[in-house]
Amino acid sequence: MKQPKFYVTTPIYYVNDVPHIGHAYTTILGDVLARYHRLLGVPTFFLTGTDEHGQKVQRAAEAAGISPKEQADRTVVRFQELWRRLGITNDDFIRTTEPRHVKVVQAILQDLYDRDEIYRADYDGWYCVPCERFFTEKDLNDGTCPECRRSLERIRESNYFFRMSRYQDWLVEYIQAHPRFILPESRRNETLGFLRKKLNDLCVSRPKSRLAWGIELPFDRDFVTYVWFDALVNYISAPGYLSDEERFRAWWPASYHLIGKDILTTHTVYWPTMLKAMGLPMPETVFAHGWWLVGESKMSKSVGNVVNPMEFIERYGVDAFRYFLMAEMTLGQDAAFTEESFVRRCNADLANDIGNLLSRVLKLINSHLGGQTPAPGPEGEEETALRDAVMAAAVAMEEAVEGMRLDAGLAAVQNAVREANRYLEKKQPWFMAKQGDRAGLETTLYAAGETLRIVSGLLYPVMPGKMAELRAALGLPAGEPSITDLKRWGCLESGRRVAAEGRPLFPRIQTEKTEAQPPVSGLTPASAEGVALIEYADFQKVELRTARVLTAERVAGADKLLRLEVDSGDGRRQIVAGIAQHYRPEDLPGRLIVIVANLKPARIRGVESRGMLLAASCEGALKLVTVDGDMPPGSTVR
Ligand code: MSP
Repeated sequence: MKQPKFYVTTPIYYVNDVPHIGHAYTTILGDVLARYHRLLGVPTFFLTGTDEHGQKVQRAAEAAGISPKEQADRTVVRFQELWRRLGITNDDFIRTTEPRHVKVVQAILQDLYDRDEIYRADYDGWYCVPCERFFTEKDLNDGTCPECRRSLERIRESNYFFRMSRYQDWLVEYIQAHPRFILPESRRNETLGFLRKKLNDLCVSRPKSRLAWGIELPFDRDFVTYVWFDALVNYISAPGYLSDEERFRAWWPASYHLIGKDILTTHTVYWPTMLKAMGLPMPETVFAHGWWLVGESKMSKSVGNVVNPMEFIERYGVDAFRYFLMAEMTLGQDAAFTEESFVRRCNADLANDIGNLLSRVLKLINSHLGGQTPAPGPEGEEETALRDAVMAAAVAMEEAVEGMRLDAGLAAVQNAVREANRYLEKKQPWFMAKQGDRAGLETTLYAAGETLRIVSGLLYPVMPGKMAELRAALGLPAGEPSITDLKRWGCLESGRRVAAEGRPLFPRIQTEKTEAQPPVSGLTPASAEGVALIEYADFQKVELRTARVLTAERVAGADKLLRLEVDSGDGRRQIVAGIAQHYRPEDLPGRLIVIVANLKPARIRGVESRGMLLAASCEGALKLVTVDGDMPPGSTVR
């Protein structure tokens, strides 16, 4: 049996321009997958690099008045610097201008030419410079490129062709027999759709008279290699094809080629047929993710809407950036990138949920347990429920990595964190401390601390820096978490010194729009400075009660207000609420909401209001506070 291993690649990026968020996304995804597999103890090889030949790079160099190699040398450092800043742990970085790559491309070309897999012929057709691809008349989309819809150049010349068409039937059968070869399924269907048309042979050369910047054909010095034929070979030249066969056999075939959906055909038609002609096994999976959009369009330099990842990292930190990209995009679908959604998610998931849980635990351990991790007593119902939620998150994360649903895995982890915050709200350890219930306090803080230990391990591949900080604060041993301990509850050692509660792990991002907003979950960050703390007795003065909405209607002349009639257990009452922009009146009757029942009556826009309803709001969104399950109206809320 072959040893399990994990070999993951990103596309190699063109050096015609500096990296943007689209490039950063694929590379972070590769890094997260590589880190997870390393934690699992699976030997891992993570490859990225740059695609340095071809017309795009030559044109960029001409525009800058420098040589193409200089253009590549200047730009490649921008990618390498960004990957360093983003904490990317690639095992190799390949540049297609390196001799180790050039030699392999030439050896492959010579071999295919010798075996008549490559032949010379005259070509007359259309060429798309941005896509670096030829198209026949019937491929065109109203005279434009069928891939990017830009205008095409007419080209007549003699060239070399790879007999790709002879592998068409084989490829269709291969794709049909291997459901995991192209993922997600929609992309597999797209390739099968493409293969319904007759496949042409692939032009693999460019005459030097038109394009000099490329790898020279070993059998004809007047030509260079087509940039895609050259670039795809990086996936085998880097792990040692034709140079270190033992190493090559250890890694190939790749477990995943991660690509954006824009380069599906080259990876699922050109590349497999090239490999077939070389007699090499196919990669296990080509996974095409969606695009980051700005408004309706793909983020791309040519559209002029790119977001610079360096600026984001500087402003908000590396780990928040990595987390946002992984959590926000459902793999396979497009996602919108906006600074607002970035801030909203970071504040909600990181500052309010994880950061707040950590500061609460540290604060309580430091104030009441001498700064040492507690020893748990017997587990009660609430601890069991929390443990179940955390264990479910560990399983969900494992499945998410396996099934390429990182967003779903992260959502499950986030859910466990929220569960832990709710658990603390319910158990009220600060109250236990006041009453001198040391055993209860230790059990509660142990459960919350244990949640943080497991969560920090599950999130480690996504936010390695911040999770290392969190683990150090909890007194956990330095170094990477052990994956087996993440599936076991109860590994948090008692009696370890925790850090003093310092700066929040994820400071809340203040923007003009968020400044006035309360935290999403309604929890006051325990560490926030300047927050006025109230006594429990003060809180007890507020009478919170459930109420059933009976009727709802708009208040004339006030576009934000609704007038509700509710059953508050002691009869009917009228409440005016500023929720008209978030709820339609017809959606409210029957809902069980939470009200402040003992608020002094007030007149709002001339309408009397007796009480106030509770709602959570963030970044312009608003949701009513309801109770989990049915309760009679008038039930006390505490
Ligand atoms: N050089 C080729 C790839 C050769 S691989 C053998 C190329 N390079 S590229 O610089 O244009 O980068 C393409 C990749 O960058 C996409 O496939 C995708 O992984 C990523 N992205 C670029 N823009 C993107 C978005 N707006 N959204 C998401 N990812 C995108 O094509």
